[in-house]
Amino acid sequence: IPVEPFDLVIIGGTGDLARRKILPALFRRYLAGQMGKGSQVIGAARTEMDTEAYRQMVSEAIAEFGGAEAKNKTGLKKFLALISYITLDAKGDTGWEALHDAVQTDHVRAFYFSVGPSLFGDLAKRLQKHGMADDQCRIVVEKPFGRDLASARELNKVLARYFDESQIYRIDHYLGKETVQNLMAVRFGNMLFEPLWNSQYVDHIQITVAESVGVGGRGEYYDRSGAMRDMMQNHLMQLFCLIAMEPPAKFDPDSVRDEKLKVIRALDPLRPENIVRGQYEATETRPSYRKQVENRDSTTESFVALKANISNWRWAGTPFYLRTGKRLRERASEIAVVFKDAPHSIFGEDAGRHRNILTIKLQPNEGIELGVTIKEPGPGGMRLIDVPLDMTFAEALGPDQADFPDAYERLIMDVIRGNQTLFMRGDEVEAAWAWTDPIIAEFKEGEPPLPYATGSSGPDEALALIHRDGRAWREIKA
Ligand code: BG6
Repeated sequence: IPVEPFDLVIIGGTGDLARRKILPALFRRYLAGQMGKGSQVIGAARTEMDTEAYRQMVSEAIAEFGGAEAKNKTGLKKFLALISYITLDAKGDTGWEALHDAVQTDHVRAFYFSVGPSLFGDLAKRLQKHGMADDQCRIVVEKPFGRDLASARELNKVLARYFDESQIYRIDHYLGKETVQNLMAVRFGNMLFEPLWNSQYVDHIQITVAESVGVGGRGEYYDRSGAMRDMMQNHLMQLFCLIAMEPPAKFDPDSVRDEKLKVIRALDPLRPENIVRGQYEATETRPSYRKQVENRDSTTESFVALKANISNWRWAGTPFYLRTGKRLRERASEIAVVFKDAPHSIFGEDAGRHRNILTIKLQPNEGIELGVTIKEPGPGGMRLIDVPLDMTFAEALGPDQADFPDAYERLIMDVIRGNQTLFMRGDEVEAAWAWTDPIIAEFKEGEPPLPYATGSSGPDEALALIHRDGRAWREIKA
């Protein structure tokens, strides 16, 4: 779909996120013909640099992170021509007049705050002071949106001084993932599932976001956050909301966000026995968590598993098990809806126990799988086996259709189109912190994280968390 020409200003334009995600995403949208004639991208940061040097940096970033499209040299040259650079001081006056002169008043203007939250207030204030915070202006902010309820409230308050909520786009890139949106399509586009989507038929739901990478070069940030703040409070909570929410009346920003908010508000406070924290240990070739973050005594968790309950009519009695961690066996993320046993087996006890499981595979092999019970072929009588009705998108749709755009491509274009459906509203972020804060407060007094082996499924206690309810985690497997 063509989009009106726009101006996108990346504040923090020389940073990691800009290089890895934002610029390659823009480049791919450019190649797809979605940057209307006259659009421009302005990189802004404190570093002194001219446009030529910045274009060089962008071109290197695209070569490194742009995937196959990076080979399109003609496209790249044209894209680079849309890019300029301004040296900008968030806390001083340098660059703001130049930025004001560079942006085009008749365009939608998006200012992407790709910097730490401590600068959000300064940036907002200066955008207003220099006459750029008008109706045409949208701002995009990244996580972490605060580190607890108090700081998130403060950020919301500061931004609200200069912008209307409809101008603020809080990114959670998980919402931009193709399969995450598919979750809504599967739930609300089919007659088949929704009638069964409640505690009467669903035994439990599991959400796993497993990563095989460690904390890499982000040790300093990560050690202050941990898996609870880095992943659970945002990405897993968002998945949780989408899987558990009531059907919104419309697929529009507030209808969807109202329903998500209701889920968070209906969550029971978590009891300490329902959470397990872990920290990965070294192998012969890989360093331990503590070594990577250069903190010998760190008690920050790189893994967390928990059991949550929603107190509402739909879900009372159906537990939700969530887990996420680094340096696990594989990079594999999925949501599994495990249905209850059939009330009675006409095939007798020998037929064993069979259950339907609907699995939404988020990454890496995106798809949907429904486990169904059938008769084992052969003359041997009525023996039952479970087989997957497998819809791996790459197979079902063909490789071209299943070549999904990156989450950032979708989200950046939504900002330009003015569609906030896949962005978090201020009250939603606050509610998520309100639930998370007491859990994190327990960490100090509670047990330190339990060690787990690199390449494992996390600490044994996480297995016990679900075993004690007579259930089991699904295997972490791509
Ligand atoms: C980020 C976290 O938000 O999400 C990282 O800060 C994590 O720690 C990343 O690795 C995971 O994203 P994805 O898209 O690779 O699953």
